[in-house]
This record gives sequence, structure tokens and C-alpha cells, in this order.
Amino acid sequence: MARQKQKKFAQVAERPNVVQPGKPIFETIKGNWHQEFFKNDNPITLELACGRGEYTVGLARIFSERNYIGIDVKGDRIWKGSGIALYEGLTNAGFLRIRILDIEQFFQEGEVDEIWITFPDPRPRDRDEKRRLTYSRFLDIYKRLLRPGGTMHLKTDNTGLFDYTVDEVFPSRKDIQVNILTRDLYHSEYMHLHHGIRTRYEAKFHDEAGEDIKYVQWQFLPEAEVQSTRTGETD
Ligand SMILES: C[S@@+](CC[C@H](N)C(=O)[O-])C[C@H]1O[C@@H](n2cnc3c(N)ncnc32)[C@H](O)[C@@H]1O
Repeated sequence: MARQKQKKFAQVAERPNVVQPGKPIFETIKGNWHQEFFKNDNPITLELACGRGEYTVGLARIFSERNYIGIDVKGDRIWKGSGIALYEGLTNAGFLRIRILDIEQFFQEGEVDEIWITFPDPRPRDRDEKRRLTYSRFLDIYKRLLRPGGTMHLKTDNTGLFDYTVDEVFPSRKDIQVNILTRDLYHSEYMHLHHGIRTRYEAKFHDEAGEDIKYVQWQFLPEAEVQSTRTGETD
């Protein structure tokens, strides 16, 4: 098993579509994804906690006019998606192996158009709240990375994490505008946003454990609008 992992790590290190420690591009990529990596100006979508990168690959197949970057700390998981992207010649899909807490070292403010968080670890223990990818401090980071008006998506099977996000974190902030929210995506009018893409954890928890898939899409309001909401101004 450990040998298999080593083999995957070695292969990932050689792949041109993976940015990870040890590669020169790892040091220079911040603010340069368009020019240095994708060689185009198309909008960038991130998939956080991408695992095998089902959304990165799946969306890249459908939307060739956009760029996709799957981010995960585990090289043996990125191995899967990066291999498929290479095999299929998806030049609009890339992978970045980092801890999400460090993401601002790799993207400039406003460099990102859209962020998906796909089935993040729920971290149910109270003492792990700060490690949840929807903890308010993480949302502050995503807000800085996104262009104004950029879109956020969270998809999860986990009721605790979903409720925590929409019922605790969102109301604690003034800058969240929820566009879409469903606790049962598969039986909702928003199923088209599923794009027919099922992640490994989605299959595991929906098909095997019978969990409904929850989905929320939101935007961060610009500071000026937050201020006017606070003061009650309308223009
Ligand atoms: C439950 S899995 C979901 C994987 C995939 N999105 C799916 O739906 O099948 C969570 C993933 O998040 C990654 N992860 C968790 N915390 C992370 C962090 N702080 N930085 C980077 N990756 C993280 C793990 O390595 C794991 O691959």
C-alpha cells in the first residue's frame, strides 16, 4: 500500500498539470495562473477539497471556455484526477497540492471567478470548528480571492456541516447573499447544477448511506452594500 502511494507521488511530481512543492512554478504561480499555467484569460474556478477531482475534471469537460483547479493536500488523491485530465487532453484543468489555509500564497486577490467546496471533511468535534472549510475565517479568505460578485458553491451530504454553515456561520456575517439553498438537491429544481457529476464521497454517502445531498450557492456582498444594509440606506 505504502509502495503504491510512493509510486503515485512520484508520478504526480512529473505531471505538468500538477503544481506542488518542489516545482519551480510552485514559487511563482501566485497571480500568474492565466499567463503561466493556462496560457489564456478564461475565468478560473477552484474546487477545494477536490480529492480525486471529479468536479475539476467533470466541469472542465463541459465548460471548455473556463479554467479549473482542483486543490487538495493529498497527492495520491490528486493523482487520479490529474491522470484523467492528462489522458483526455483537458488543458483547462490543473491541480494544486497545498493546505487550503495557505491558499492566499498561491492566488492573488480577485484572481478567482468561482469556488466549489465539494464534500469537505465535516469535522464534527467542537474543538475542530476552526478546521471546517466553512469556518468564518476561511470564508474571509475565499472572499479575498474571488473577483467581486464571484460565486461560491458548497455541496455536502453532511447535515451537521451544512446546518453549521447556513444556520450559524452565514447569519453571523453581514456579507452573505444566498442565491440557492436546498437540503435535497436530487429532488429539487436545481438538479441541473449537479451537471451529472458525482464525487466519490457523494456516491458513498448518497447511494450507500442514503444521505440527501445538500447544496448552497452564495455570493459575498461588496463592503459598500454591507455598509448600506447596516445603516438602512437604499442607494
Ligand atoms: C471527504 S474528502 C472529499 C473529496 C472529494 N471532494 C469527494 O467528494 O469525493 C475531503 C478531502 O479534503 C481534503 N482536505 C481536507 N482538509 C484539507 C485542507 N485543509 N487542505 C487541503 N485539503 C484538505 C482531504 O485530503 C480529502 O481529499
